[in-house]
Amino acid sequence: MTRQPDVLLTPRLSLRRPVPADAAAVLRILSDPAVARHHPSELVTELDEVEALVGRWREHWEHHGFGNCCVVEESTGLLVGNAGVRWTSTGGGRGLNLMYRFSPSTWGRGYATEAADGLLGWVRASLPDELVVARIRPTNLSSQRVATKVGLRRDPDHDAQGDDGVEWAFTNRT
Ligand SMILES: CC(C)(COP(=O)(O)OP(=O)(O)OC[C@H]1O[C@@H](n2cnc3c(N)ncnc32)[C@H](O)[C@@H]1OP(=O)(O)O)[C@@H](O)C(=O)NCCC(=O)NCCS
Repeated sequence: MTRQPDVLLTPRLSLRRPVPADAAAVLRILSDPAVARHHPSELVTELDEVEALVGRWREHWEHHGFGNCCVVEESTGLLVGNAGVRWTSTGGGRGLNLMYRFSPSTWGRGYATEAADGLLGWVRASLPDELVVARIRPTNLSSQRVATKVGLRRDPDHDAQGDDGVEWAFTNRT
């Protein structure tokens, strides 16, 4: 099994394997309507929903050795977001779905770019032949900007229908 380190460090952040006690901090981020703006179906308001979600992240880690991480700001120790890769089906094959979400109070500092860059560095070293796909709503310009800053490119062959409408694919296919 290809294992991601339990803690992946970037210059300002640590991306670590989630634990059940993270649920309350994750709820504070995912219950913010600004975070769910482009994905209203992902808005969660109850702690038990987030406990179940964190449980699913942990199951992916247990079965595959990597997955969605809790992102901690090193200067404050605060949990400021989630980011990670997990297996997905795409274009009739498999891929690694890259996702990132951050607390609005930290937006614009380059954190999503830094986290995605760290994750892609690990993928390049550990799973170099895998397709990476970020699925992004057409109106989510800041997320598209993050994807292109870390080297992903628009790849309509992998566009998909999500729960909130069409999702554009940005992939590492050359
Ligand atoms: C998308 C998200 C993760 C970006 O996080 P972030 O830490 O602010 O991202 P960064 O600071 O690394 O980069 C954001 C980039 O988008 C740009 N940007 C911000 N708003 C923009 C807009 N309305 N139009 C175009 N670009 C925009 C910023 O200027 C920056 O680019 P730059 O470095 O070239 O100036 C964050 O907004 C978020 O969590 N959104 C809610 C959840 C979400 O939509 N996640 C993605 C799901 S696919």
